[in-house]
Amino acid sequence: MALNNVRLLTILFNSCFHFLRQAVASGYKMTVVFSPSKNVMNVDEVQRKGYAIANTPTRLVLRSPHNAEETYLQNVAGVPMRVLSTSTFFEQKWLVTRVDATAVCPTPEAVAFTPEVITWYMPKHIDPLFSSDAFTMLEVYMGIDAKRLDTEEMAARNYSVLVTEAHIIVEIPVGAVGGYFKSHIQDDQYFVTYTIEPMLELLWIEEVAHENTSYKVLFPITTPPMARPPQVRNYTPLDTVPEQAVFVLELGTFNLDVELLNITFPTMVLTVAECNARGFNVQEQRSPDNTLKTFRMEVPFSDPVVFKERRAEQGVTTFTLQLIYGLVIFPEYAPFSHSAVVDAVLLDIVPPSVTGNCDQENFHITVDYRNQEPFFVVLVGKRLLNHEFAQQYLTEGDTDFTITLPFSSPDAVFEVRRSPKTC
Ligand SMILES: *[C@@H]1O[C@H](CO)[C@@H](O)[C@H](O)[C@H]1NC(C)=O
Ligand SMILES: *[C@@H]1O[C@H](CO)[C@@H](O)[C@H](O)[C@H]1NC(C)=O
Ligand SMILES: *[C@@H]1O[C@H](CO)[C@@H](O)[C@H](O)[C@H]1NC(C)=O
Repeated sequence: MALNNVRLLTILFNSCFHFLRQAVASGYKMTVVFSPSKNVMNVDEVQRKGYAIANTPTRLVLRSPHNAEETYLQNVAGVPMRVLSTSTFFEQKWLVTRVDATAVCPTPEAVAFTPEVITWYMPKHIDPLFSSDAFTMLEVYMGIDAKRLDTEEMAARNYSVLVTEAHIIVEIPVGAVGGYFKSHIQDDQYFVTYTIEPMLELLWIEEVAHENTSYKVLFPITTPPMARPPQVRNYTPLDTVPEQAVFVLELGTFNLDVELLNITFPTMVLTVAECNARGFNVQEQRSPDNTLKTFRMEVPFSDPVVFKERRAEQGVTTFTLQLIYGLVIFPEYAPFSHSAVVDAVLLDIVPPSVTGNCDQENFHITVDYRNQEPFFVVLVGKRLLNHEFAQQYLTEGDTDFTITLPFSSPDAVFEVRRSPKTC
């Protein structure tokens, strides 16, 4: 908390600041009175209480922890502000100089959050800093990390500052440039927070005193934790034979401070390096703006970590992969895990069969294509089995079809063989 306003009430020297520079060196007695408690302390006591007091050629600097004993909450235009109010006395013989200094800082209650926007309300008339109601706001600047921004820079980052009758309202989109996301684990759930440190610089002039007062506040803001439950996306292609099939999995989405350490399978735990040595090709993938990551992996169905179950009566084989991803958040090395089960059901490949017989008038040819889609072309004699032909000769079953073709059909060919056939 820096000194925000200095009001000089009793000035016996031309330059009070000149006086301050000389004060301690020349043996002045310095006491600080805190308001509203009226506690009086000398410099040693002030320092023992955790405050820092110093004077430079142009300033009296008083620093205080935010929640120090002598600070108090004050509601200013509906916004709770934390206030430290002091009077510092410099005494020597008949000479007394008094410097009043008040610091006012926003509190976490000055901020409203939605999942998209951070809104920070600052009172425009910061009562504890003003000696009268008549004032003119000369300048309002916003900045980030103690660096002032111009209007183009603010627009490019989608920050906005609105000055209303009673408030200065700063709006920052969650995730905007200038802040950062951080991962957290609570009850093994994954959360992220977004932190940014906006600055406001205000300059106003009070009409009666005709004195400029500048106020500068750096205000670190962190959003409440936002739940980001990770998901496993399964991109496994199934249009391939089981020997070549692979599970293709993507786990995400995480902030960049998350690392994948290991994967626990029902039979063993493998580090990422061990997974890669086994051919699982674990890869970290970044979003185009380089703010998020996912972990991609390929596990062949043929690997022993994949559980296989043949269900002959259904003509299928089920492939199941159970895994627990072991992750950590850096730099604090907070471990967490995410478990997943994926499976794939593949039809057992049974080759189609063709059987035939004949009666007194017809050939009967049955094609049983079992569980395969009939991806083949049928030629009867020299003719393609087209729709018209099919209507005439073809009967379809569930997994087969039968062509019944009379001997008299032009597609039938009679040949004379030496050893006569039965038909
Ligand atoms: C600013 O906001 C606009 C509209 O909401 C959005 O399209 C754009 O991506 C934002 N720019 C940045 C830098 O976030
Ligand atoms: C107050 O600040 C404004 C803007 O910087 C400046 O133009 C003006 O001279 C200052 N007035 C006094 C009394 O210091
Ligand atoms: C696997 O990673 C987790 C981090 O989530 C860690 O706590 C655990 O000790 C690791 N297990 C082994 C066997 O390395």
